[in-house]
Amino acid sequence: MTHLFELLDLTFRWVHVIAGIMWIGNSLLFNWLDRNLRPSARAAPEVYGDTWLLHSGAFYFVEKTSLAGQAMPRPLHWFKWQAYTTWLSGAALLVVVYYAGGRALLTDPARANITPAAATGIAIASIVAGWLVYDVLWRLVAPRSATTAGVASIVALVLIVYILTSLLSGRAAFLHVGALLATIMAGNVAMTIMPSQRVLVAAVTAGRPPDPALAIAAKTRSIHNNYLTFPVIVLMVSSHFPGIYGHPLSWLLILVLITIGAAVRHILNVRFTFRPWKPTLCLTLAAGFAVLFVVGRPGAGTGGPVSAVAAADIPAHVSFADARSIVDRRCAACHSATPAITDFGSAPGGVSFDDPARIQALAARIRVRAVETRTMPLGNRTNMTDRERVMLAKWIDQGAH
Ligand code: HEC
Repeated sequence: MTHLFELLDLTFRWVHVIAGIMWIGNSLLFNWLDRNLRPSARAAPEVYGDTWLLHSGAFYFVEKTSLAGQAMPRPLHWFKWQAYTTWLSGAALLVVVYYAGGRALLTDPARANITPAAATGIAIASIVAGWLVYDVLWRLVAPRSATTAGVASIVALVLIVYILTSLLSGRAAFLHVGALLATIMAGNVAMTIMPSQRVLVAAVTAGRPPDPALAIAAKTRSIHNNYLTFPVIVLMVSSHFPGIYGHPLSWLLILVLITIGAAVRHILNVRFTFRPWKPTLCLTLAAGFAVLFVVGRPGAGTGGPVSAVAAADIPAHVSFADARSIVDRRCAACHSATPAITDFGSAPGGVSFDDPARIQALAARIRVRAVETRTMPLGNRTNMTDRERVMLAKWIDQGAH
């Protein structure tokens, strides 16, 4: 079973990354085109502008036009399957990695003591509810006041981020906020952008002028998607960064990452008309880095990583034998070529503690995962105690020998 799940994980992930690159690449290219159109030499009223491109040994001429009063060209290429494939393979990945078989990645008893089934319900509900709130706000409220819809969307996002980081494991919370934003993007394509394009094609085919209200709604959603691309990507790769998703202030770190991503996207959007975009980009990146560094430093947001343990409980010198027996007891159940807990295959994350020398070689990572972020043992399945974490920290501080 583990083998089957690993192969499904690989297959869906491969498809997901390729489809995601195609979707986002496409969206960035069209965004770039829109901002690089020049007034057309052909003074026709339906032409918005045109531009020349060079790619792999030939020139391309692209003209943006409303086609008004002209026959519908065939074939006409639409782009939608990249978006749908990205969403569908992402949903399949969520099932394989997080929901099927209660593989312990979804919950963390240090955050909330809930069953994997309850966590799965919360995770799915957050995506559905998040999409509904967003869609209702931008369908019903935005036509009267876009500011109200914008502020309410941000408040709803902060709430969902806070709820998910309180109830799910840090890793799952980051991924589900990413999945919610990506669902909003795919939903915008399926429910607003595609319908408006269908109406546009029908209008041009029938020789009628298209409905500007639909075009405006589609443009708004497309701008939202543009700003969401960078935040979604960083959340999707966040599972490589336990120091961030495992941090006590992880809810704030998610919001900081989303803000940096959207800000950088904005600067890149306006760079064709905003002269000082380069220094602004550098300043934004530096400020973002500084905020992540300060807010996300180990121990911020708590009295210390494992503050509750009395120093008197810990021996003055922690020997390798002590450390080894803790790792054998609490980690080797998964981190072995022949693990007792088989859910994660052998040696998850490429780490096995069968050879005691590996315990010393990996001391720095052991400190990060078991002491600073407490993201190991996974879901604390092996019931590691705070005292054991402090013992490991001391052993490492004393030179790990
Ligand atoms: C219930 C199973 C399980 C237990 C018990 C467990 N781990 Fe892990 N470990 C995993 C899985 C799954 C991964 C890969 C996913 C990840 O990195 O979060 C992993 C990855 C790792 C990695 C490699 C990734 C990195 O961040 O460098 C290290 C190091 C690690 N664990 C240390 C430990 C330590 C130390 C313990 C004991 C205190 C421990 N683990 C206990 C399941 C477990």
